[in-house]
Amino acid sequence: MKIAPSILSADFSRLKDEIQAVEAAGADWLHVDVMDGHFVPNITIGPVVVEWVRKVTKIPVDVHLMITDPDKYAPEFIKAGADWVSIHPETCANPNTTLRKIRDLGAKASIAVNPDVPLSRVEACFADIDMILMMTVFPGFGGQAFIPDVLSKIEEVRKLIDRRKLSIFVEVDGGIKADNIERVVRAGAEVIVSGSGIFKTPNYAETIQQMRRAVQMIMEDGG
Ligand code: DX5
Ligand code: ZN
Repeated sequence: MKIAPSILSADFSRLKDEIQAVEAAGADWLHVDVMDGHFVPNITIGPVVVEWVRKVTKIPVDVHLMITDPDKYAPEFIKAGADWVSIHPETCANPNTTLRKIRDLGAKASIAVNPDVPLSRVEACFADIDMILMMTVFPGFGGQAFIPDVLSKIEEVRKLIDRRKLSIFVEVDGGIKADNIERVVRAGAEVIVSGSGIFKTPNYAETIQQMRRAVQMIMEDGG
């Protein structure tokens, strides 16, 4: 399991310290939420910030694009240092073309699935992705409540990937904390995004250890 703290909930006046603190606390990846005020009702950060983020950490930078024009901007985020780029299918004319372009530019490609989007809507993308990002909140803000209805869809995607022996990571994003991480991992998630669940706690290392312990218990009782 990989843990990817979302910097959306970090203290931006101390972004470098916050990033280095979660890295030292055992974070595997860093999740960066890019919002443009069009696809979602919030505005966050652009490639300039990603470029600086890249300079202060060694762990993979996982960029989640919640913007209306990923075809135009994904290359800029990759140039800025994004290792992983997730796009929402609603935002591109042809998601496969965008995903292939992301891969051609040297990044790993991922398709993001909102809670109300059925898997059938993204199945055609499976040939062109390295990861599928299952949203357990409607994107736009950190600190929202986890939507448990998505768990069955996570189980479904896990089965589909295993059955077809695809090498696609399942990432889950939204409302995940130490007290519910076990449910998403049990459903089949292997990359866990957590914003407020980490950055709004007093001791990042303790929180990440607590998350790993919760998951360890699944391994011990055989899944
Ligand atoms: C939601 C973002 C998430 C968010 C997660 O729009 O895509 O990555 O930062 O934050 P929490 O873990 O607080 O729900
Ligand atoms: Zn996100």
